[in-house]
Amino acid sequence: MKIIEVESYEKLSLLAADMIASQVLLKPDCVLGLATGSSPLGTYENLASRCGEGRLDFSRVRTVNLDEYCGLTAENPQSYRYFMDQNLFGRVNIDPANTHLPDGSASDMEAECARYESLVESLGWPDLQLLGIGHNGHIGFNEPAEDFPARVHTVQLAESTIKANSRLFDRVEDVPTMAVTMGIGTIMKARRVLLIAGADKREIVERAFHGPVTPQVPGSILQLHPDATVIFTRS
Ligand code: GLP
Repeated sequence: MKIIEVESYEKLSLLAADMIASQVLLKPDCVLGLATGSSPLGTYENLASRCGEGRLDFSRVRTVNLDEYCGLTAENPQSYRYFMDQNLFGRVNIDPANTHLPDGSASDMEAECARYESLVESLGWPDLQLLGIGHNGHIGFNEPAEDFPARVHTVQLAESTIKANSRLFDRVEDVPTMAVTMGIGTIMKARRVLLIAGADKREIVERAFHGPVTPQVPGSILQLHPDATVIFTRS
């Protein structure tokens, strides 16, 4: 695993965008695994600018997102689909039909999990998977647990995750308590993994990537990925 420390969030975003852009340039029809949250905002901004300037072409790119809240429709401004449309998909020349997220509003969530796992598999798994990390070590919405979940599944969100994510909702009671997420096994199938972590994640970066590999710190599994890069900043 490669761990790169950079001096600022701007540098982190630039470097992450460089890695994603080079993936798209080398393989124009690549499959990008994407993430939501505050961490990738600067990266998406960079990618959108490059596309606007005609330096990057998303017309053949396919995307699969990591996760989605249960119970929110795509039109809900708190949904991850809405976030992706606003922050990336609506700002680059990607074909919306090539953008995929789990459907958190499906009536049969078990069937939806199976559908989404098969979809990611049918696309050949991500060439590059972008990740953030939660303060408790979660990646996607894989919360600390007894085992590493293998496949797409629904999950009860940890109290700390609900609290952390409530900053984006009017009230903490509005944060969904369930989510659907790629499993750790799904994430590990990506050919390359890129995790970005801002200054607020110093402690968990230390625990996850310099401590033992354990499902209690789900992101620690990336120590065993054959091609994982972590970019973090302390300021
Ligand atoms: C959320 C998302 C994760 C994300 C994490 C960190 O719960 N499900 O995919 O990586 O939180 O988010 P942030 O980058 O906003 O700190």
